[in-house]
Amino acid sequence: MRAWVARSYGGPEVLALREVKLPQPGPGEVLIRVEATTVSSADRRIRALDLPAGMALMGRLALGLRRPRRAVLGVELTGRIAAVGAGVTRFAPGDAVIAFPGFRQGAHAEFAVMPAAGMVVARPACMSVETAAALGFGGTTARDYLRRARLREGERVLVIGASGTVGAALVQLAIAAGAIVSAVTSTGNVALVQGMGAAEVIDYTGRDYTAGPDRWDIVADAAAALSFRTALPILAEGGRYLAIAGGLGDLLARRRGSRRPIAGPAAERPDDLAALADLAARGLFRPPIDAVFPFDALPAAHARADTGRKRGSLVVLLESPSR
Ligand SMILES: NC(=O)c1ccc[n+]([C@@H]2O[C@H](COP(=O)([O-])OP(=O)(O)OC[C@H]3O[C@@H](n4cnc5c(N)ncnc54)[C@H](OP(=O)(O)O)[C@@H]3O)[C@@H](O)[C@H]2O)c1
Repeated sequence: MRAWVARSYGGPEVLALREVKLPQPGPGEVLIRVEATTVSSADRRIRALDLPAGMALMGRLALGLRRPRRAVLGVELTGRIAAVGAGVTRFAPGDAVIAFPGFRQGAHAEFAVMPAAGMVVARPACMSVETAAALGFGGTTARDYLRRARLREGERVLVIGASGTVGAALVQLAIAAGAIVSAVTSTGNVALVQGMGAAEVIDYTGRDYTAGPDRWDIVADAAAALSFRTALPILAEGGRYLAIAGGLGDLLARRRGSRRPIAGPAAERPDDLAALADLAARGLFRPPIDAVFPFDALPAAHARADTGRKRGSLVVLLESPSR
């Protein structure tokens, strides 16, 4: 099969399209023929070894000292089951699925193997492959952080970086949970974010929302625009700062009175993926799509991700007989 391989850390030019061995599903595993995937901010961070402040050493140890240990990047995909391993009854060849390899990666290939009991769910019949491919990364991150923050109905939530993949999921999932959302974005993305239903859209190029007088119960920062310390003045009593793009400083930050920071990698839970597919099927979650690329042009999607200005997800389509 063909796969995009990262030969070293660096720019999009380190990626090479290679013929690699077709993986075989072991007991309890499924082989998925990939129909669509994405190039996410995680893919570009790993490819470029461009990690949040203070994380470089830990990152190399976790990801590979000189080059990505898992050479085929890609954290989310949709496709069809091509084969099942011994003991798998949940899926059968031909089933349409959404999968989230997450930290195990490997979605930038024609086929991927996943544990059948892991991050694999059925793809609703009404869902486009573009939407299905783009559900997992922002969606699972937003769900995990909002759960850890114990978001309650009626709370005020500020989302910073609302036009990005994670920010767009935070806005929509917080609204679906009954929150009153203020969304921070730049001028060109105001209309996009308004369309997600935020109660208030703040253009950060024209207003300093940290200057007061507004305060929020949750400040969800997907742009590393603030830190727990600089967010304190805009956190209400009992407020939580979500350092989604935070570095070592945010991981080590300690609560201040009733206000607390929440940081670290988001959990990967199959029930979250199932819930996202359900919300999307009911029209309550629509991941915005910045652009769609053919598989052969995947490095161009990395170049777009490198700008830091993408609006939602970069979808990569593979050729497939079912399309
Ligand atoms: N903790 C975890 O497990 C976890 C999981 C997923 C992602 N992340 C991290 O979360 C961050 C966001 O990921 P993503 O996939 O959503 O990235 P993305 O799609 O590239 O979006 C980044 C967004 O940030 C906005 N932005 C940049 N500077 C800003 C500022 N000063 N104020 C407000 N918005 C600003 C940009 O919009 P404008 O062009 O409008 O400025 C852009 O839309 C990344 O750093 C990623 O590594 C962490």
